[in-house]
Amino acid sequence: MADLKGKFAVVTGGGKGIGAAIIKRFVAENAAGVAIWEYDQALAEKCAAEVGGNVIAIRCDVSNGEDVKAATAKTLEAFGRIDILVNNAGITRDVMFHKMTEQQWDAVIGVNLKGTYYCCKEIVPLMREQNYGKIVNLSSSSAYGNAGQTNYSATKAALIGFTKSLAKESARKNITVNAIAPSMIDTDMMRSVPPEILTRYIAGIPAGRLGSPDELASVAFFLSSDDSSFVNGVVLDVSGAART
Ligand SMILES: NC(=O)c1ccc[n+]([C@@H]2O[C@H](COP(=O)([O-])OP(=O)(O)OC[C@H]3O[C@@H](n4cnc5c(N)ncnc54)[C@H](O)[C@@H]3O)[C@@H](O)[C@H]2O)c1
Repeated sequence: MADLKGKFAVVTGGGKGIGAAIIKRFVAENAAGVAIWEYDQALAEKCAAEVGGNVIAIRCDVSNGEDVKAATAKTLEAFGRIDILVNNAGITRDVMFHKMTEQQWDAVIGVNLKGTYYCCKEIVPLMREQNYGKIVNLSSSSAYGNAGQTNYSATKAALIGFTKSLAKESARKNITVNAIAPSMIDTDMMRSVPPEILTRYIAGIPAGRLGSPDELASVAFFLSSDDSSFVNGVVLDVSGAART
């Protein structure tokens, strides 16, 4: 498989969980540089130190357009270009819709959807200019509906439409835009689910277990490598057969 030699990547929310596993994999695949755009600077620095390689930690709240502009400038200063963007930063504020506050709604829309908008708004023009780019958006199996997650599901479903539309706009510029829809991956986000609900979730996965962040990272790597050059606008379910 084509590695990432000479490629510079941005991974949002890469301080832990799936994002950190993607960064580790990118470095193992010889990426020239990876920038972690992360809300929690200490987490990002810890991840960069653990992974080694040319990984830089940049504090950035992706729901803030000014932060994203500043992070883009710092990344370009360090790397000179951005070939790969993984829109991974995401949050949940799970609650039944009739009890959901506007603040819980806005917080999730702000990070998961508007954050992807801000990052693409900065980076897509650079990719168009260089006639090359790989964008990977983290959707979710919740895009297809999950009780207690109307806010989260709305963002993850929106990301699918966004991905497909941006792919159609960008293909002639040698840019691929794809999405991954994981079901349940073993990270802090999943560990925040109450144990009795988690047990019920796992019982619904034919594989009989949670996925690992590394299993997700290998899919993100494929969609970020030149081996996926004609794969554009797809949503890859990574669900242990839960969504077939
Ligand atoms: N874990 C799962 O089972 C699962 C399933 C489907 C989709 N996903 C998606 O995968 C992505 C990663 O999930 P995870 O499980 O690794 O989550 P996680 O909670 O373990 O890590 C998320 C990271 O994003 C960072 N972050 C949060 N808000 C941010 C912001 N405003 N700006 C920048 N960084 C921010 C956090 O600090 C954290 O490091 C998310 O988009 C999530 O919705 C996860």
